[in-house]
Amino acid sequence: MERLWWHDAVIYHVYPRSFLDTDGDGVGDLPGVRRRLPYLARLGVDALWLSPFFASPMADFGYDVSDHTAVDPLFGSLADFDELLDAAHGHGLRVLIDYVPNHTSDRHRWFRDARADPAGPRRDWYVWRDPSPGGGPPNNWITLFGDSAWTREEAGGQYYLHSFLPSMPDLNWRNPAVQEAMFDVARFWLDRGVDGFRVDCAPLIAKDPLLRDNPPAATGTSAHHRDLGGFDSQLHLHDQGHPDLHPRYRDLRALLDSYGEPGERIALGEVHEYDWPAWSRYFGRDLDELNLPINFGLLGTDWHPEAIRTTVRAILDAVPAGAVVTWVMGSHDDPRVASRVGPAQAANAMLLLLTLPGTAILYNGDELGMPDAAVPPERIRDPWGLRTPALSRDHARSPMPWSPDSPSCGFTATGVEPWLPVTTPPGGTVRDQEADPSSLLSLTRDLLALRRAGAALHGAGLAFLDSPPGVLAYTRSPGPGSPPGAGGDLLVTLNLTDRAVPLDHLLTPRPSGGPWRRVFTTARTRDAAHTGQGALAPAEGAVWSAGDGGGPHRT
Ligand code: GLC
Repeated sequence: MERLWWHDAVIYHVYPRSFLDTDGDGVGDLPGVRRRLPYLARLGVDALWLSPFFASPMADFGYDVSDHTAVDPLFGSLADFDELLDAAHGHGLRVLIDYVPNHTSDRHRWFRDARADPAGPRRDWYVWRDPSPGGGPPNNWITLFGDSAWTREEAGGQYYLHSFLPSMPDLNWRNPAVQEAMFDVARFWLDRGVDGFRVDCAPLIAKDPLLRDNPPAATGTSAHHRDLGGFDSQLHLHDQGHPDLHPRYRDLRALLDSYGEPGERIALGEVHEYDWPAWSRYFGRDLDELNLPINFGLLGTDWHPEAIRTTVRAILDAVPAGAVVTWVMGSHDDPRVASRVGPAQAANAMLLLLTLPGTAILYNGDELGMPDAAVPPERIRDPWGLRTPALSRDHARSPMPWSPDSPSCGFTATGVEPWLPVTTPPGGTVRDQEADPSSLLSLTRDLLALRRAGAALHGAGLAFLDSPPGVLAYTRSPGPGSPPGAGGDLLVTLNLTDRAVPLDHLLTPRPSGGPWRRVFTTARTRDAAHTGQGALAPAEGAVWSAGDGGGPHRT
């Protein structure tokens, strides 16, 4: 298979509101992202994905788009975007942008037209229905917040569908004019030179055409990677994931492939589907739909070797031959990984993310070990958090701490209050961590260099090894056809406990091979160095090279 840039890329996810504020309004902006491109280039990632920066009333912080082809003044201008794109390309970084097909803001021109003129052509661009025969909403579908997904318009009495806030009406992709209009949006950005899209809520664009009720779910179960409260009271069989989405993603892929060489521009898809064979259908039967449907499997997996092995195996088994798998450990919607696994394990989480086969998405701040920020109730901004505090996403969206010498840690000009409280991770700000070779930032940079250097981390192969309790161990091998001198197998060992663990037989060379050499470790303090060659220090993650062809006993 020809290798394309995204086959083993590391995509850095920027949440622009929280990256760097250059105009002193307390909110990050596009010039701020541009100013920090050297930081990303030094880190060694391959691409960035920008969360929405389009015109929006910001009810859902930009996921409620009111004009898809305008930059919201909060973030800058279209010229700022063009400059950012150019500068990123100049650094060798690809740029993906968010693409929100399922809904718009209610302030979007399309919805204003639909609302104002029930007999007009734009009405059917959204999903309108009369009340059910007994009165009330047309069916039992609910929003993410557990209340009805239908809102009744006073004028005319019809209901419109919204999977999220009432101010975010769902588009009707069964109307071909909607697809055409949204593809025009894609063309607008592709013409400007973006390298692709992250498709928001990819499963939602096709729903049951008969709008059948969802069946109830067994109490206490969630089909998601975390408990979503009232949303989990139903099995979401009919309000998303209808097979009619496949032709639409085939069309989107064809559009992407019509720009430059096929395979250069890509669609990364947000797919919250946890039944892995069902998830894998988003690649398309002929791998002609989403290039990279994201799986969120690791976010809901306990931090234990057996649980991680089970999730990774199940996902890899579901990936169709020739497709590329994508991993995430954090996002703007989820608790911070460093808080989930604990600060001592944050480096192992990064090591896992960056040594699994395929593409990795690194959420901004995770390279610093950012914990969930403490956000006092009066400073909650997230609409989910305002409705259901347990669902608040603000704690994962706190501003990037760049330097220790100002109250906003360099996020904004001195004296300006950032839109969310600033949190400093245990390892300090970017400036502190850049100067500290044992920091998570330095470890991440070294890991990215290791990832680039050897073919083993580029191949699709991964074999889990029988390992001592508390240790996750696997080998990565260069794929068939790797060039000579590309390096041999790598062994990855993660100590998920807080005790030293001897590695015993794992490091026994095969009769034909030489010893394993530790080429990377997360344990860089002096104490760790005393643990010895054949053992992992507490919480140590290490990568071992069998440069001369040696290898461990596989199980
Ligand atoms: C996606 C986004 C999330 C947003 C939602 C509605 O899940 O990641 O931030 O709130 O879609 O657009």
